[in-house]
Amino acid sequence: MGDKSVGVLRHSMRSYKAKSVTSIQLQPRERRETALGEAGHNVFNLAAEDVFIDLLTDSGTGAMSDEQWADVVRGDEAYAGSRSFERFHETVADVMGFDRVVPTHQGRGAENVLFGALLDDGDVVLNNTHFDTTRAHVTNQGATAVDCPAETDLTTDSVGTFAGNFSTDRGWDAVEEYGRDAVSAVVLTITNNSAAGQPVSMENIRETAAFATEIDATFVIDACRFAENAQFIKQRDPEYADTPLSEIAREQLRSADAITMSGKKDALANIGGFTAVRDAALFEQCKQRAILYEGFPTYGGLAGRDLEAMATGLREAVEPPYVAERIEQVATLGDLLRDRDIPIVTPTGGHAVYMDAAALFPDIPAEQFPGQRLVCELYREGGVRTVELGSFAFPGTDRPELVRLALPRRTYWREHLEHIAETAARVRDRRDEYTGLKIVWEPPMDELRHFSAELEPVA
Ligand code: F0G
Repeated sequence: MGDKSVGVLRHSMRSYKAKSVTSIQLQPRERRETALGEAGHNVFNLAAEDVFIDLLTDSGTGAMSDEQWADVVRGDEAYAGSRSFERFHETVADVMGFDRVVPTHQGRGAENVLFGALLDDGDVVLNNTHFDTTRAHVTNQGATAVDCPAETDLTTDSVGTFAGNFSTDRGWDAVEEYGRDAVSAVVLTITNNSAAGQPVSMENIRETAAFATEIDATFVIDACRFAENAQFIKQRDPEYADTPLSEIAREQLRSADAITMSGKKDALANIGGFTAVRDAALFEQCKQRAILYEGFPTYGGLAGRDLEAMATGLREAVEPPYVAERIEQVATLGDLLRDRDIPIVTPTGGHAVYMDAAALFPDIPAEQFPGQRLVCELYREGGVRTVELGSFAFPGTDRPELVRLALPRRTYWREHLEHIAETAARVRDRRDEYTGLKIVWEPPMDELRHFSAELEPVA
């Protein structure tokens, strides 16, 4: 494919093989039609067994290794001070460079613990782009969440090498607007999920850290996909071409005062998360909040076996063959789609390919949710479940009409990717048949509407 300019490495081999598998089947078309109707044209309402290839999320849906499963059996289920916590603690120190860690049930639990300790009413938090739960937890503390993405055109033509960066110019604008004292935290989300999974450069991490120091704000990294980000740095920054991946992974986090982490992403686990901090007083506060919301600070809402799975997964996530193949597989799905003239955001990000529904369905206006129509048709045509991240998911914004195809880790094979691309091509060929959609039922909270709202085709 193209994008050789950004140095995407290609490895055609996987460095693992299957030993345990889960059967999946493509239900007959009539069944898919019925299921889509019963789900109110919202694929969150589908039963997983009606889905053939599930690209709804890369969160907790990947395959664990035999080492992780072995450690699951070894999990120590002591309420306090378990051996599994010690192993997890040592691993976080070693892989991520943080000695003070509080486990939580998943990433948003970490956000609740940390932001509750860090933020006060009226505070302002800056982020390259807040992920939905991050924004919600900032807001929940009475603070204001402000996005400061670096200027990149997130349409199908965007070609920034590190298109997930934080804009310190926008950061300074926010300081001007809200006042230096109000901005209490600066967050960098690596990779930037809400900006098509695009990476953040090491230079930008340093620059953002310096900015946070200058305004006396706590510098937080949302490290959910830190291994994927490290791989992009290795590929795209010549200064790091020869640096071992595990070193890049640690160096990215060195300047952070705190991190939040979803173990369901780059800890390769099915559940889990944590926050880790440098400051002893902040650590104490986090532990107290953890006791209230998560569990005793050496288990944080998890079983000992979950801590084991995260510990082993964190080490596996920074093994060079694994993460190179991970990024390459996402790029390959992008290639297969582009070979069939399906408009996508390029270069592809770390965990997902983002299709441009507005370009694919130019006749469906934004208020009739072209992205959600695309989500429905990918399911109807090929049993492929994806997620809309445009005007249906983000009402009242001018977000591009994107549909995310997130690849679970170590889960699907090239044949599955080909099926996805063929499905998209069939949808494209039938595009004149589709109308837009209208909402017929929605929950009270606008921010959460895409998880449960029901729709039907516009007549
Ligand atoms: N931060 C980022 C950047 C995320 O992508 C997510 C989850 C979270 C925090 C919260 O973590 O789910 O463990 O509570 N993203 C998933 C997704 C849900 O599909 O992108 P969590």
